[in-house]
Amino acid sequence: MKEITKDIRYIGVDDNDLDLFESQYILPDGISYNSYVILDTKVAVMDSVDARKTQEWLQNLEEALEGRKPDYLVVHHMEPDHSGSVAAFLEKYPQATVVAGAMALKFLGQFNPGKVFPNTLTVKDGDTLPLGAHTLKFIAAPMVHWPEVMMSVDQQDNVLFSADAFGKFGALGKTAFWADEDDDWACEARRYYFNIMGKYGPQVTKVLSALPDKPVVAPLHGPVIRDVAEILKLYSTWSSYGVETPGVFIAYASIHGNTAKVALTLADILRAKGCPKVALNDLTRDDQAEGVEDAFRYGKMVMAAASYDAGLFTPAYDFLHKLQAKGYQNRKVALIENGTWAPSAGRVMKEMFAAMKNVEVVGNMVTIKSTMNPADLPALEALADAILNA
Ligand SMILES: Cc1cc2nc3c(=O)[nH]c(=O)nc-3n(C[C@H](O)[C@H](O)[C@H](O)COP(=O)(O)O)c2cc1C
Ligand SMILES: [Fe+2]
Ligand SMILES: [Fe+2]
Repeated sequence: MKEITKDIRYIGVDDNDLDLFESQYILPDGISYNSYVILDTKVAVMDSVDARKTQEWLQNLEEALEGRKPDYLVVHHMEPDHSGSVAAFLEKYPQATVVAGAMALKFLGQFNPGKVFPNTLTVKDGDTLPLGAHTLKFIAAPMVHWPEVMMSVDQQDNVLFSADAFGKFGALGKTAFWADEDDDWACEARRYYFNIMGKYGPQVTKVLSALPDKPVVAPLHGPVIRDVAEILKLYSTWSSYGVETPGVFIAYASIHGNTAKVALTLADILRAKGCPKVALNDLTRDDQAEGVEDAFRYGKMVMAAASYDAGLFTPAYDFLHKLQAKGYQNRKVALIENGTWAPSAGRVMKEMFAAMKNVEVVGNMVTIKSTMNPADLPALEALADAILNA
């Protein structure tokens, strides 16, 4: 069992077998459901875990308690990956008080029909909970990324319990327990951030300004962060929809391979012109969540897609729908469409980008008829110049 500080222990669990996080995101290295316990005059347990791991978590808790009984279960977030073991916890420790915001307590009832929770303490932004030497102070974090989310700070040890913010995919036994010992924290933290919270940049920005100075950050997924300075800079860029890395992201969706060849040719042209980084995603076969991540990471994107039933090839349509759902904005895009009899992909892509905030389509869209023809090269060169100079 890991010590976060002298009195704060990690009691979370790894899930190495979950097929998809939130039934949508692949987990190459699993996921952790983090939970902590503060051992003071009063004992506070910080969040439960997914119902898939209730027994293992209760076992970790029992070991950490060394014969004591918990006084409080603090519920920062009611999504089932963290609240799925609240009822089981209360069966084992019926005297414990559930500490949560009013909305979280309402959701607790909704998720547990017929169950009564007699011992509850409702807290709101700014409230404190004294534990002895330690005192918890609550920070409301509405819509980061659910409405009931709260964070809390242990004022004695300056540990921030940040709920899903600062989380990362990957089980701690497979990656690292401490973020500073993680080979590449940002990669899977970025995929997590944009796909889970991307839409809520303003709310994340707002809560960032309410955080204590230089805390140890104890999130609900992924490594514990001892030095948050660089990570705060990333969060500030991400939540303000700023450009993290200079370069161009090319997303392509091809039925028979011809549009894919055009996309790869454009990548070569961009590199030859000195583009600092060209990232690619085959929207039909690669992880589209990785594509969402890269769309937000780079300031510029090229979409290349086949026409399909007088519309847009569905993997490209799905991807643009995801970008729109996650609040894609402040970006320059260029378009390539392919069609054999009546190209229609470009019209749909233009309509979808027009519905997003401050997304500018630059250059002249390139229309390929079935397959790339040498005569298409000047138009691709011009498109590359347009996106590079945008
Ligand atoms: C089911 C299906 C529907 C298609 N619908 C259209 C269409 O509405 N208009 C069009 O010009 N081409 C249409 N196409 C042709 C594709 O756009 C064609 O595959 C493309 O021109 C070649 O690029 P690719 O090799 O990247 O798929 C369709 C192809 C398929 C398989
Ligand atoms: Fe969540
Ligand atoms: Fe979560």
